[in-house]
Amino acid sequence: MNAELQGRVVAVTGASKGIGLALVRALTAAGAQVIAGARSVDGVQVQGATFLPLDVTDEASVQAFAERAAAAGVDALVNNAGVGAFMPVQDITPDEYHRVMDTNVKGTLLVTRALIPHFQARHAAGQGSQVVNVTSDVSARTFANGALYTASKYGQRAVTHALAHEGQGYGLRVTEVRSGMVDTYFAGSQPGESHKADWLKPEDVADAILYALSVPARVRIDEILLHPTVQEVAYP
Ligand SMILES: NC(=O)c1ccc[n+]([C@@H]2O[C@H](COP(=O)([O-])OP(=O)(O)OC[C@H]3O[C@@H](n4cnc5c(N)ncnc54)[C@H](OP(=O)(O)O)[C@@H]3O)[C@@H](O)[C@H]2O)c1
Repeated sequence: MNAELQGRVVAVTGASKGIGLALVRALTAAGAQVIAGARSVDGVQVQGATFLPLDVTDEASVQAFAERAAAAGVDALVNNAGVGAFMPVQDITPDEYHRVMDTNVKGTLLVTRALIPHFQARHAAGQGSQVVNVTSDVSARTFANGALYTASKYGQRAVTHALAHEGQGYGLRVTEVRSGMVDTYFAGSQPGESHKADWLKPEDVADAILYALSVPARVRIDEILLHPTVQEVAYP
């Protein structure tokens, strides 16, 4: 058991598979209570976690999720839900634009916004809170076929940074987790495909998030950038 996570209540979006599900497993194993949301949660079970239906693009769905999380006494939110799509600029349709931007940027905004009053009430009661946003190593650089996805991740990074500035006034510590290539279901792929053998495992990213959530209250982890060793070295 991780002493820093024992008794913590963490809300995780995009929790049905990939990084989010690995994070739910790691958090519950460390003694945290987890409120986990995704669109398809039927049959997804982890002891110590409550799975709720959540579409981060839908305000009513987000509100219902946030109310359950606040009622459980949530002290940390991990905005992990995200989708990827890669194509040249001329092939980006308005529908794809809305799907990616609404999930990655609007979704992060809606879920965070819904929980800010709760975090402010915690601050008034002398308690701190945390938000971890799972963006990407490409939240600050781009590449061919990456316009739509990286625009969404640049946007999510901007939201993260602004929230960090604002949240300092109400005891909110904000962390951006920027991962390179991870072997998940991302962008319509399947875990275990041969070209992904040496990529990060979802558990590697979950461990980074766990670290950000585990440090003492005097420590704020602003950003974690991690890559599989096979990926080209790239900053920022
Ligand atoms: N895999 C990578 O290489 C990589 C690298 C850097 C960053 N990331 C980021 O990591 C995060 C997790 O991705 P992943 O790799 O774990 O992909 P994944 O295996 O496809 O999982 C994505 C998760 O997001 C959920 N989700 C998608 N749209 C949603 C919505 N509208 N409302 C609620 N949940 C939604 C999915 O659940 P439902 O479909 O059931 O809703 C699923 O649980 C994303 O933000 C992604 O951009 C991934």
